[in-house]
Formats: sequence, C-alpha cells, structure tokens
Amino acid sequence: MGFWGPIKPIERSTGHSAHRLRPTLSWPHLIALGVGAIVGTGIYTLTGVGAERAGPAVILAFVIAGLVCACAALAYAELATMIPTAGSAYTYSYSVLGETIAWVVGWSLILEYSLACSAVAVGWSGYLVGWLQSAGVHLPAMLLQGPHAGGIVNLPAVLVSFAIAGMLMAGTRESATLNIVLVVIKLVALAVFVLLALPGFDTAHFHPFMPYGFASHADGSSTRGVMAAAAIVFFAFYGFDAVATSAEEAKRPGRDLTIGIVGSMALCTTIYILVAVAAVGAMPYTVLGNSPEPLALVLRTLGHPLAAWAIAAAALVALPSVILVMMYGQSRIFFVMARDGLLPRSLAKVSPRTGAPVLVTGITGLFVAAVAGFLRLDEIAELANAGTLIAFIAVGICMMLLRRRAPEAPRIFRCPQPYVVGTLAVLGCLYLLFSLPEKTLLRFLLWNVAGLAVYFLYGRARSVLARG
Ligand code: ALA
Repeated sequence: MGFWGPIKPIERSTGHSAHRLRPTLSWPHLIALGVGAIVGTGIYTLTGVGAERAGPAVILAFVIAGLVCACAALAYAELATMIPTAGSAYTYSYSVLGETIAWVVGWSLILEYSLACSAVAVGWSGYLVGWLQSAGVHLPAMLLQGPHAGGIVNLPAVLVSFAIAGMLMAGTRESATLNIVLVVIKLVALAVFVLLALPGFDTAHFHPFMPYGFASHADGSSTRGVMAAAAIVFFAFYGFDAVATSAEEAKRPGRDLTIGIVGSMALCTTIYILVAVAAVGAMPYTVLGNSPEPLALVLRTLGHPLAAWAIAAAALVALPSVILVMMYGQSRIFFVMARDGLLPRSLAKVSPRTGAPVLVTGITGLFVAAVAGFLRLDEIAELANAGTLIAFIAVGICMMLLRRRAPEAPRIFRCPQPYVVGTLAVLGCLYLLFSLPEKTLLRFLLWNVAGLAVYFLYGRARSVLARG
C-alpha cells in the first residue's frame, strides 16, 4: 500500500447490516431534499454580501457560480448513480483516487456540511432579529451577536442548531416529510418577492454595473470583484450533493437520484437569477449590501411592509430546512467514514428505533452550534465553500478518470460531454477557490493539516479496507 492508501472496490459499498441505512426515499423526497438544502441563506442573505463585493454584477456572479455548480452536478449525478452508496464525493474518491485523498475529501465535506449549517443558523438569526424589531420587540444585543460584533453569543443561532439536531436524532422519515412543507413555503416566498420587487425595477441601479472589476482582489478589509462575489454566492448553489449523499437510502437510485440532483439544481438556478435581478433592480447595491435581511429590506423600501414581514416569517420557518438537510448530509459522511474504520466505529451505530445515526448527529449539532454562536457569517460561509469546492473538484476528476478506467461499466446516468463538463467543473472550482480571501484559504489549509494528522495517527492503521 503506497502513500495514497488502498482503493475501495466499487461493488464493496456497504458493510455489516447493523451499519446499513434503510432505503426509504423516492424522487419527490430527493427533490425536496435538494431544494431544501439549496435555497437558503445564500439567496436570502448572501445576495447582499455579494452585491457589496461586486456591485450590480452580483447577477453575473450568480451566473458564474451557477454554471460551475451545474457542471459539478452533472458529474455528481453520474457518480451517484454508478456508486449509489452514502458518502458521495468521499466514497467516489475512495474508489478512484485512494484512501488518503478520500480522507481529505471526507474531512473537507465535514467542514462543508457543518459550517453550512452554522452559516444558515446565523442568517436565520439575522432575519429573526429584523422580524422581531419590525414587530417592536428588542432583545438584548449581547445575546444576538458573537464577540466579533461586540456581543457575547448569537443565541438564536445556537438554539436553532440544537433544535434541528434533535429533530434528526428523532429519525429521518418525519424530518423528510416536514422538509417538503418547508420547501413549499420557501419557494412561494421567493416567488412573491420577485412579483412584488420587479415592478420597482430601475435600470439606473445597474450603473456602474461592475464597479469593482472582475477578478477577486483585496480592497481594504474586504475582498472585491465579480469573482470575489461568485466565490461567496457559490454558497447559494450547493446542497444538491446532499441528495447524492443519501444515495444508499434511495428506493430506486438510478431514476430517483438523477431527477433529484439535476431537477433541484435547475429549479434553484432559475429562481436565483430572477431573485437577484429583482433585488438589484429595486435598490442601490450599496444599501442592499449592508443589510442582514436584504430581501425584507427591498420589500419594505418598495412600500410593502406586510410582505416584508411575511418574507421574513417565511425565511424563519423555512431556513431551518437547509440546516436539516446539511446536518443530515454531515451525519451521513461521518457515519460512512466511521463505518470504513477511519473514524471510531462506535460512531457508526444506527439507532434500531429511528434508523438514524444518533451519536454522530449529536456531535455534529454541538459543533454547528458552537461555530454559529461565535463566528461571523461571511467567514463561516467562505470556509464552507472551500470545503465544498474541494469535494466538487474531486468529483469532476473521479468522473473523468472512471470514464477512462472503466469505460464499459454500467452508468445509469451519463454526463453529456464528460471531459468538457468535467474539466469545466474542475477549473471553475479551482478559480472560485482561489478567489476566496487568503485568510480563508489559510484556515482551510490548517483544517486539512489537522485532518491529515488524525488520519495518519488514527485512521490509516484502523482502516477496514487496509486490514482486509
Ligand atoms: N445553498 C445553501 C444555502 O444557500 C447552503 O443556504
């Protein structure tokens, strides 16, 4: 066994039956799971941060991030239907690139999913504060923000994280059904936003279109340019990979996963472009960029206080669905890595009563709540993006390598133009990764150095595969 570790045979996807997840989900669950994970703080809050970094060209940032994600989604769909087991990018990398890279990808996915939960919890808290204030309720500021903003802890963000972890520990089934209801609320709210904001469209708000140029560059304490915005609004697009992560629980993986991944991705991209155009057309980007609840602000400014109140209420009810799906994905990644022996195997136990990996979900909930309670939204989202980009790069590479190594292997979903799409996914993700602020890249590097230390000191010797 070389430095890259063993390669997991594709067929050998699952282990002992006590460590096997139940197939309970079909495609409507998976689309709901996808949309539930995709539409969240990215469009509801980071649209403002993106506008602050790119000006009106935040629309272009959405298009770029969306195109890169579409390429990655196609590669995901091919691999998810070829290797339909929990673990997504981690498992694909294990079967194509070897255990060491799989570990890095899995460790990055842990960062992606848990920090995405934290980021959405903070975004949720922002809408809660605005919503309560518009109803005349003012909570103590010290308990609404972390130390970076002069507070003690972002308590609402902590509480919502715990609540979701508790729901997941009670079992996948109820959570998936509740998720469908929340997804409908979220989509109706965005549709109403577009309908009310578009009449306020003013072309003057699009001049200058690209005030900070295209490439990402440091500008005082901020990072600006269209690519800097794309690197942050990229957050708004991912989540479809959570569908791939639950492949093992799909009843008919081929059909269900394809419709789940491609369908939810296409639906969300269309909605985002409409929302971004409506928001930027309705008010100056400088105002939009400073709001912790930009969509509610737009409606209030256009003279729709009731609708502003309602969209904030919808965000409050529905954003937790993103946390739900992401935390679900996180627990599954952790679960699969433990099942493979790379993390303590006792963590991979599924509750016989609920079918959920309870211990792992509890640990995840604690981590998510701690980050959400004390750190800043844009920094959390950027670090989550770095983890996701690594996973997407790995997926693009794995898809292309498998086409060469196993051209005849059955593929239920075939990515069109695999080498063009795969190369675009890999290069696009690399460009987005290096458009992130330097300090984010440094933190990400530290996370993976720590991860590799865990791998070489613990996982490598205990790997189920390596021990035969
Ligand atoms: N795409 C998800 C969101 O925007 C993570 O909240």
